[in-house]
Amino acid sequence: MKKITIKDIAKLGGVSIATVSKIINGKDHDIGEATKKRIELIMKEENYVPNRLARSLVTKKTKTIGLVIPDITNPFFPEIVRGAEDKAQEEGYSIFFCNSDDSLEKEEKYIQNLMEKMVDGIIFTASSKRITEGELLSNANIPMVLVDRQIESKNIRTSILVDNKEGAKIAIKHLIELGHKKILHLTGPKEARITQARLEGYKETLEESKIDIDENLIQFGEYKMGSGYEGILDILNRNIDFTAIFCGNDMIALGVMKALKEKKIKVPKDISIVGFDDIYVSSLIHPSLTTISQPKYQMGYKAVAVMIDILEGRIQSHENMILMPELKIRETTLNLKEKVK
Ligand code: RIB
Repeated sequence: MKKITIKDIAKLGGVSIATVSKIINGKDHDIGEATKKRIELIMKEENYVPNRLARSLVTKKTKTIGLVIPDITNPFFPEIVRGAEDKAQEEGYSIFFCNSDDSLEKEEKYIQNLMEKMVDGIIFTASSKRITEGELLSNANIPMVLVDRQIESKNIRTSILVDNKEGAKIAIKHLIELGHKKILHLTGPKEARITQARLEGYKETLEESKIDIDENLIQFGEYKMGSGYEGILDILNRNIDFTAIFCGNDMIALGVMKALKEKKIKVPKDISIVGFDDIYVSSLIHPSLTTISQPKYQMGYKAVAVMIDILEGRIQSHENMILMPELKIRETTLNLKEKVK
């Protein structure tokens, strides 16, 4: 049986090969709906399947972008993926998505696999264990864009980031305005740059308000619910005095709230809490979480937009894009002056 080619489809549809190619690659915004539907029907009737691998060997492009994120169980990251996927679809690209479980080994394995599968570029949020770019990334000959977490890199010059220090400053200013001075900070992994940036914002804001830094009120952990749960129980067992908690992310805050509820400690009556990320559950729980909102969808959307600009030659590489977080005041913060004795 003769193999149907793109040329046959074009002839049957009375259009050029270029028109059929645009429809196949989703770059068909300048083609009439009726023509699109006619060509799609012919391809279906002729059982035509575009040979993308053959095309990629010629064009050296697969119209695919690899996306590696560190923790699919944390609702923060799926919103980044959603934004990335929407922009990729708009531009006729596909996303190959990988979850590294915050493991440096898995992250490196996936990046290697994606390069072997000839993706055109790789977007990733580095594992919190990654301090330097490492040999694989520094020698990688493929466009890469970092999103959310920056690493020291000579090879990757394009990042879509959020001003984490400013986010922490906004959170602490909010608590200080409510009269809190003894503010516990349960953070993410000590070695992660976003942890250090948020810690810097925490300390700087306390110092600006002439509040001494008490190292007993800083506890490093993981960006996980269990870390918040265990971390606050440890603090309570050490009889450390505090009136508010700034959590390194919303997952830590959820763990803290679970533990406080078990200990019959009321939020915000007894303890105020501020999180970081504004994941979707934070507005649904009771009391709803006051938190620092990150523009998650936009981070993913812009990362793909910048990547495609690089792939299609519109820009060489992009300086860091710094997006701004914002405070979402909900029900877990209380003005100490209003606290009923
Ligand atoms: O919740 C996961 C944390 O790690 C977020 O704060 C985000 O910034 C990611 O880097």
